[in-house]
Amino acid sequence: MRVAIIGAGHIGGGIARQLAAAGHEITLAFSRNPETLAALAAEIGPGTTVSPPAQAVAFGDMVVVSVPWRVLPQALAELGSLDGKIVVDTTNQYGSPQPPAGVTAAQFNAGRMAGARYTKSFNTLTAGFQARAAGRAQPQRVVQWLCGDDADAKRIVAGLISDAGFQPVDLGGTADAAAMESPRRHGAVYGEEYRAADAAAVVEAVAAGNPIPATPRYT
Ligand SMILES: NC(=O)c1ccc[n+]([C@@H]2O[C@H](COP(=O)([O-])OP(=O)(O)OC[C@H]3O[C@@H](n4cnc5c(N)ncnc54)[C@H](OP(=O)(O)O)[C@@H]3O)[C@@H](O)[C@H]2O)c1
Repeated sequence: MRVAIIGAGHIGGGIARQLAAAGHEITLAFSRNPETLAALAAEIGPGTTVSPPAQAVAFGDMVVVSVPWRVLPQALAELGSLDGKIVVDTTNQYGSPQPPAGVTAAQFNAGRMAGARYTKSFNTLTAGFQARAAGRAQPQRVVQWLCGDDADAKRIVAGLISDAGFQPVDLGGTADAAAMESPRRHGAVYGEEYRAADAAAVVEAVAAGNPIPATPRYT
């Protein structure tokens, strides 16, 4: 697939490397210093390019939005219309504007990306851990939680998560996303390693509106 990475920093850069290694076509966009993008593209190798933000959106079957929360309004303005595009939002809500009470960050951002086929993933684990853990075999393969209100978009993103070297697990709609959103806390999957065997009980609990089981500990 063609994937546009908007913000190729710690998280976006890692996703770019992982998906390029799996054979996807990548373009990198949105930097204060485009030379850094050119250097990363050259390092990743042939097939990875650099584009202005709106052209990156036009290129991508999928658009990964991976910028600091406070920079999102500027990034979205530069991206232009996301109508019909599958979006993977990796952001966490550190900074302003904050979602209103009772609204998940995923719902808030889906609302700021009108027309997009919005999903959220790759946001619960540190960039360093994601880089180290990608590509593990089962049963140690690490879960990337996924949410969104477009089932077909989630199915396609799940395939990309697998290609990136992780176990995709659908946690539900954007309204169900609180458990995968910051901060790290008791009763949330945010900040915690999960493997497939422990994920189904979490999905069940979230769907039922029940507290999730205790966080697993792996040796
Ligand atoms: N780091 C983590 O461990 C982690 C884990 C999970 C989720 N997240 C979330 O993922 C998103 C990206 O995090 P990250 O750690 O990858 O961030 P990062 O390393 O700082 O990368 C941010 C990217 O945005 C670009 N950018 C363009 N304009 C910018 C501006 N005005 N100010 C700052 N950056 C600008 C940066 O490019 P230039 O620097 O070239 O301008 C860079 O490629 C955040 O929302 C974060 O909360 C991070």
